[in-house]
Amino acid sequence: YVPAAPAILPAGSLAEIRQDASSCVRCPLFGPATQTVFGEGPLDAPVVFVGEQPGDQEDLAGRPFVGPAGQLFDRALQEAGLDRRQAYVTNAVKHFKFEPRGKRRIHKKPEGREIEACRWWLDRELATLKPSLVVALGATAARSLTGRTVSVLRERGRITEMRPGLPGLLTVHPSFLLRLPDPAARETEYRRFVEDLRHIGEIAP
Ligand code: URA
Repeated sequence: YVPAAPAILPAGSLAEIRQDASSCVRCPLFGPATQTVFGEGPLDAPVVFVGEQPGDQEDLAGRPFVGPAGQLFDRALQEAGLDRRQAYVTNAVKHFKFEPRGKRRIHKKPEGREIEACRWWLDRELATLKPSLVVALGATAARSLTGRTVSVLRERGRITEMRPGLPGLLTVHPSFLLRLPDPAARETEYRRFVEDLRHIGEIAP
């Protein structure tokens, strides 16, 4: 698997924000994590994708969505006729939260206060990028973007105002698909995910 090319972030304010985020101590998650995983993508990206938090591989690579969830995400984007290289991809929480179990590091869901603390960075990314559309991948992203608890399965697949003046699309997180034990259910849910992503082309072709 060859991940998308690293984003080129030219000098300018997003590069500065990224630099500041690399020494973030706004919540305790910076301690055990390897590094801040900031967003990446072109500065003129019309669409910003927001995930939950970096996983094990992202934590090591320092780049968002390069592990198994990222591979599934790339495949779904392609099937929806979208090019990840033209989008900006980031996370609601920028440090990997995990529980050590032997040699493995098991993903732990970020808490509300961690999401709140890290919104500082997401807000700065959005203010700089001014996208036409923001896509929340899962409940954590939706909570960070809207400031409320969101039911993904009830509210997914529609373009609504996620913040005043900012259209948004809510869909499932690719990790949700990876966790489904039944292959048939996984395939059905994957198809629904691709269908949700197809709406992006309607607003930000
Ligand atoms: N899951 C996420 O939400 N973000 C990543 O970057 C990787 C996995």
